[in-house]
This record gives sequence, C-alpha cells and structure tokens, in this order.
Amino acid sequence: MRRAIARKRDGESLEPALWSEIVAGHGAGHVADAEVAALLMACFVRGLDGAETEALTRAMVESGETNAPPAPNCVDKHSTGGVGDAVSLIVVPLVAACGVRVAKLSGGALGHTGGTLDKLRAVEGVDVHLAPERFAAQVRDVGCAIAAPGPRLAPADARLYALRDRTATVASLGLVAASIVSKKIAGGAPAIVFDVKVGGGALFADLAQARALAESLVRLSAAFGRHAYAFGSDMEEPLGGAVGTGLEILEACAYLRGERRDSRLAGVCERIAAEMLRVGGFAGDARRALETALAGGEAFARFERMLAAQGARADWAARLAPHRTATSVAAARSGYVCGIDAVALGEIARELCERDGSGAGLRVAVRTGDAVAPGRTLATVFGDRACAPRVAAAFSIGDEPPPERPLIYFEMEAGELRSTLETR
Ligand code: URA
Repeated sequence: MRRAIARKRDGESLEPALWSEIVAGHGAGHVADAEVAALLMACFVRGLDGAETEALTRAMVESGETNAPPAPNCVDKHSTGGVGDAVSLIVVPLVAACGVRVAKLSGGALGHTGGTLDKLRAVEGVDVHLAPERFAAQVRDVGCAIAAPGPRLAPADARLYALRDRTATVASLGLVAASIVSKKIAGGAPAIVFDVKVGGGALFADLAQARALAESLVRLSAAFGRHAYAFGSDMEEPLGGAVGTGLEILEACAYLRGERRDSRLAGVCERIAAEMLRVGGFAGDARRALETALAGGEAFARFERMLAAQGARADWAARLAPHRTATSVAAARSGYVCGIDAVALGEIARELCERDGSGAGLRVAVRTGDAVAPGRTLATVFGDRACAPRVAAAFSIGDEPPPERPLIYFEMEAGELRSTLETR
C-alpha cells in the first residue's frame, strides 16, 4: 500500500488490478483507513485519468451486489448536489405516472447540499433502507422507489465517501464520478439522467469542470453498458423556493398538486422528466404526458403510493407543517438582488433542521435580478430566528441588475456535447 500511495503521490497512474486490490482490501479490513485517506489525498491532488476512474468504479461496483434491471426500461436519475433541489421528489413520481418506471438510488446530504434521503425521512414512517429485492418489487408494483444503496449495493462508496468527507477530498472529479456511477450501476437501471450542477452552490462552480464531470459520468456509464444523458443546470442560487427537508417535501407536494410551481424549479423538472421519459423509451408526446399526469392528479397520487409503500404513516401529510416560528428577513435598501449565497443558505437550513426538526428551514422569496424596495421580504426563516441576520447577509443587493444567467448550460449524451452556452 505504501508503494501505491507513493506512486499516486508522484503522479503515476495505478493499474486496474491494484485499484481492485485496494478497494477489496479496505472492505476486508486489510487496508487501514489511514492508508486509504492518504491515497485519497494523492488522488485529489493529482487527479485520476479515465482508465483509473473506470477501474475504481468497477472495484466499487464489485464491492457488493449488482441489481438486475428492476424493469426492462426503467430509469435512474442523479443530481450532483444542490440547494433547494427538490427535483427528485417531483420527477420520480411524475415520470412513473407517465408509465416509465424509476429505480432511484440516492445519497444523504453532502455538506451544504440537501440529500433526497434526508428529505424523505421528514415524512413520518418512511423507510429508505430497502433491501434490493424489496426495492425492485416496489419499482415493478408501484412504478418507482427512492432508496439508499445500503450495505449490499456498492458498499465501498459509503466507506470511501465517509473518509473523503473527513479528509476534505470530496470535490475531486474522478472520485465524484466513480462514487456516483458505482451506485447507479449497482442499482440496475439501464438508463440514467444526470443533473450536473454548475455554480457557487455546486460541488464544481466552474463550467469547464462541471462539463468534464458530465462527460465522465456519461462515458463511465456507457463503459458499463448503460445509456446516459447529462446536462448542466444552474446552482448559483437555490433552485426552488424551499430549503430544508420537510419544507422541500411540502414544495414538492404543492408542485405535484398543481398549487404552486417555482419557475426555476419547474424549468429543471420539466427538462429532466422529459429526458427520463425519452431514455426510458417513452414513444409519445412527453410534454403532453407530463402535463396530463400533473393536471389529472396521477403524479401526486403516485408520490403518495411510493411513500405508502415505503412505510409512511397514513396521516403523514397532516403532520408535516412548517415550523411555527416564522421570521421574515427583509431588504434593508432598494436595488436589485445581485446574488444569493446558496452555500450559506444550505448550511443555515441544515443547522435549522438539525436543531428544530424537519419543519425548519427557509423559504426564499426573491430571485437574482429582482428589484426590491426596503422592507420587501427576501426570505422567511422557519425555526430559530437567531439566524435571521446570517440569512440577510446571504443576499447581496446592488444598484444595477446583474447579467442574466441561463438555467441550463450544456447537455450531452454518449459523450457528445449537444449544445453549450459559454456564458460563465
Ligand atoms: N454525490 C455522490 O454520490 N458522490 C459524490 O462523491 C458526490 C456527489
């Protein structure tokens, strides 16, 4: 192990058999955490080439079982992590309601970004630890499931991720790609849609790096025989209005019931859902099917069925409400919203949920570019109002409107860049 660490430290590329030996040895307890931590830091500093990333992914997949496809054309979806990103909660039941099954393996919260599993846990009774057989049966019977990989699917990812988190080696392109794709391959879905976040609130703020990650995700998936599509979406500010576990569930419910749709959240959901239908082999008019599923109540009904199948209490919706202490954070001056610090808001919402429960968090009331007058509500804090000054500091207000940003920066399939907006 010492020699492998030294080779990687010096910028060499390690052979596939060595990656397999290291990952298997760590799982078996023959390779110590300290040795893997040193190797991860060498990977972070030196980077992994394409062959190494593929070898590491394969070793991580082989650390556990691989599900057979739960249904022939089912799809999975993955976001690289954002703030106010309730997309999975919306598109998974929505796409299932249109007839394409969704088998989604998810992760927990990473740093300031919210995790879909943590949001689902805000629904009383919901179990995200489904054994692979139960996961596949639910995908077939209900049409969709969202679950943790658990100890049987790519368990090396959980082990390596915990070490990366402790050693500040998360944001490494090769390590991120291997982590994400290993879970997706083990989950068994034949087609995958990746939402790669770009901007200050994302793992990679830089457009070129986000695009390189998307390319790697698509290429790696293809190497394992999966059809993958990826696009880059904006994460310079929170995506939806709600930031916090229960508040994002409530936002997803309002969306699926047609009561309230944030325009940026809708822009990403519509795009992802349409691509999930396409890669899942849906032959009809995707846009029309999605509108019908929302308007007819089938999408929300599917969400309820998915939660019920995963153990939600029958009265979960009545028991989930915003925290009763609500504090409005107002603009101190007039001008234009020039920036909203997604990292700060994500961290504050996480602290609020940890301290005050799943009804705590934030609702963002303005968007970058909005004109504001003194006293206009920028956000509402649910839970401990002591954090209101930190929330206020996350909004910068200037005299001129900032340049507009696109919501979608690029898209690619099978490694081909289809379109790119060079606006960052
Ligand atoms: N999401 C993952 O699943 N893994 C990473 O390393 C980063 C984001």
